[in-house]
Amino acid sequence: MAQNYKDELSGVETTGHEWDGLRELNNPLPKWWLYLFYVCIAWAMVYYVFYPAWPLGKTYTKGILGYSQREELDTKLAEAKAGQAKYLTAIAAKSVDEIQKDKDLLGFAMAGGRSYFNENCAACHGAGGQGAKGFPTLADDVWLWGGSSADIYKTIQHGIRSDDGDTRGTPNVGMTAFGMDGILNRDQIDQVTDYVLSLNGKTADAGKAAKGKAVYDENCAACHGDAAQGSVAAGVDGVGAPPLKQANWLYGSDKQTLVETVTNGRAGVMPAWSKRLDDATIKSLAVYVHNLGGGK
Ligand code: HEC
Ligand code: HEC
Repeated sequence: MAQNYKDELSGVETTGHEWDGLRELNNPLPKWWLYLFYVCIAWAMVYYVFYPAWPLGKTYTKGILGYSQREELDTKLAEAKAGQAKYLTAIAAKSVDEIQKDKDLLGFAMAGGRSYFNENCAACHGAGGQGAKGFPTLADDVWLWGGSSADIYKTIQHGIRSDDGDTRGTPNVGMTAFGMDGILNRDQIDQVTDYVLSLNGKTADAGKAAKGKAVYDENCAACHGDAAQGSVAAGVDGVGAPPLKQANWLYGSDKQTLVETVTNGRAGVMPAWSKRLDDATIKSLAVYVHNLGGGK
């Protein structure tokens, strides 16, 4: 063991530690560092007294200020809720139309509606309501079940062919499966689909289409209307048969899809939301969807 002794060059005492001839000088700590260290200790003492500090098993020393980040968060959340409550109560009390006329409420409902839509509707209708095969586009101004804000509100509340007592359309009744049920044979289906093509100005066999008109009048007009205008257009919900002379097809207007529709039938179901979402949420959704579609 080396002895403590003064280093000849610097005149400073060594600590006595030595490694292969290298000795550690026992320089005092710089004053500024030492004072800062004392200040830190003093600050910590003050902190212990005023703020939560020491863990005590399940609890902790609270400090005389009683400060808590959890409480601060709770207070902020409560404030935010109270701020929203004002809007939510107003939304619940007003019609969808009235909400749209109130600038503040409209902004609030649109913001909420957008996030509720992404949560609940986008899976079927696509983000932004662009739609998909069998799921109507909500971002245009073509509506089968009505595009007024009151209509949209009703559709969202009660659904379409849903299990809700006030559903739009008739539960379980959609488009008849003419092929599967043996009501029409292949030729008749070929003819009637050519007739639908001809109605829409698409290439079709004129002879078949003429025969198809007879098939249409007998089998389809009851639901789709004499002029293929659809059942809802007349203001009657009925079974909700869409117009067949149109540009916004739910399933598709190419020959193959038409044959598939007439052969196998279709019965799209839109769920009812009135038992799953509260009224203010449904109204916000109606406002959002109404504005997506350009707001008829
Ligand atoms: C499980 C899939 C599904 C979900 C989820 C869904 N929808 Fe629908 N929705 C449909 C189908 C299918 C139709 C078309 C029914 C028909 O006419 O054949 C439809 C139709 C609609 C219509 C009527 C469109 C028209 O042309 O009149 C509106 C409005 C609508 N949905 C809004 C919503 C909103 C808002 C939500 C979310 C709260 C939602 N939908 C969630 C399947 C769904
Ligand atoms: C009992 C009433 C009823 C009868 C009869 C009926 N349809 Fe339909 N049809 C519907 C309903 C309801 C729908 C909508 C189904 C849906 O939205 O899922 C529909 C949908 C369609 C579609 C799909 C439209 C689209 O947007 O993709 C076509 C095509 C169609 N029907 C053709 C016919 C033809 C052709 C006949 C006669 C052979 C016929 N329908 C008879 C009720 C009927």
